[in-house]
Amino acid sequence: MADALQAVKGMNDVLPGEASLWQRFEDVARRVFAQYGYRNLRVPIVEPTALFVRGIGEHTDVVEKEMYSFEDRLNGERLTLRPEATAGIVRAAIEHNLCYERPQRVWTAGAMFRHERPQKGRYRQFHQFDVEALGFAGPDVDAEQIVLLARLWRELGLDRGITLHVNSIGDADERRAHRQALIDYFERHAEQLDDDAKRRLHANPLRILDSKNLAMQAVIAGAPRLLDRLGGASRAHFDGLQQLLADHGIAFAVNARLVRGLDYYNRTVFEWVTDRLGAQGTVAGGGRYDGLFEQLGGKPTPACGFAIGVERMVLLLQEAGTAAADAPAAYIVHAGEGTQRLAAIAGESLRDAGVDVVVNAGGGSFKSQMKKADASGARFALVIGEDEVAANTVGIKPLRESGDQTTVPLAALASTLAARTMGSEP
Ligand code: HAM
Repeated sequence: MADALQAVKGMNDVLPGEASLWQRFEDVARRVFAQYGYRNLRVPIVEPTALFVRGIGEHTDVVEKEMYSFEDRLNGERLTLRPEATAGIVRAAIEHNLCYERPQRVWTAGAMFRHERPQKGRYRQFHQFDVEALGFAGPDVDAEQIVLLARLWRELGLDRGITLHVNSIGDADERRAHRQALIDYFERHAEQLDDDAKRRLHANPLRILDSKNLAMQAVIAGAPRLLDRLGGASRAHFDGLQQLLADHGIAFAVNARLVRGLDYYNRTVFEWVTDRLGAQGTVAGGGRYDGLFEQLGGKPTPACGFAIGVERMVLLLQEAGTAAADAPAAYIVHAGEGTQRLAAIAGESLRDAGVDVVVNAGGGSFKSQMKKADASGARFALVIGEDEVAANTVGIKPLRESGDQTTVPLAALASTLAARTMGSEP
């Protein structure tokens, strides 16, 4: 036998049992996005490397270490498997002049690629549902997206496990001024800095704030906070957002430490976090990126968006014991002369009536077919033997509740089953 090949590390198969939870999440998410007028848009998985370098930022972890980049063998073009969707969507919006007449609410979904160390909730191929509002200055649309997410968690039955953190990281000039203020502050307290922090002081003083060194926590706690130094417009934007969230009864924590891993953000940033998934607890994150269109060669266009990590949502759904919803309503077992034909006819008439049904294929005794019917999760086994063929009837046997097998004429099967399965899912 030839050696069996395996999937690439960090890139996972999703088998049917788990895929049904993916579909449940996807169905609910699509429905909620439509409720707010967000329309689907699809962009390629492969983009020019320069798009992400310019969009996400040269000095981010994603661009420095995590991108799957390669040279097109035929024309030498530098290409990258998208590590996220926002840069591609903005490229597409510029390329097709999407916001020319009016702003746009869009969403996309699909695989993203980052070469990270795989662990629970963190993979090299992962999936996002990504939502973007292009051409809106906010803060109303910032709030709209957060309210949308709160609704999504409710619809999924996950609203109790996920909390919202918001922050404002100001505009570019405010960040520059804050950076200088941090350098000044840490220079004044240089004797309290470790070697690592001293090295970072001028290159990236913000990273000092992430230090885990216990001896430095006091000096870090006293450092100037960008949130306290916002200019009037950024302050008003952030106050407006908080007011809107309060109006909607959305609980949130202002987290002055919240910065995001991608460089395009300004003003509003937010994350939804759970403590139920261990270290990878951020299930959705996003914010405003008013400068990205210009950075990518477009006209100034304010915008705001977020992405949800689908694998993390599925882990949460599993953890919450959410039942898979992909079982058929009925499974038709049939054995004997002429039964296969009646089974096929009964199956199609049920599908016409909107009942999901599996017709046993591959033969087998009644006993072995009943086992398959049970394993399918179906609520009813429909039994067809030679007697049923002679009388043009079908037996209905409940599999998930007590009750005897009953017999109905084929002509009444669809209406009987539709009545018994609709509106009363077990
Ligand atoms: P992000 O925070 O990098 O933002 O990713 C959003 C979400 O994707 C995370 O909160 C997490 O749930 C999931 N995620 C990220 N990396 C992985 C991974 N390696 N494995 C599994 N899940 C992961 C963005 O990507 C921005 N484009 C979001 C955005 C849209 N901002 C504005 N518009």
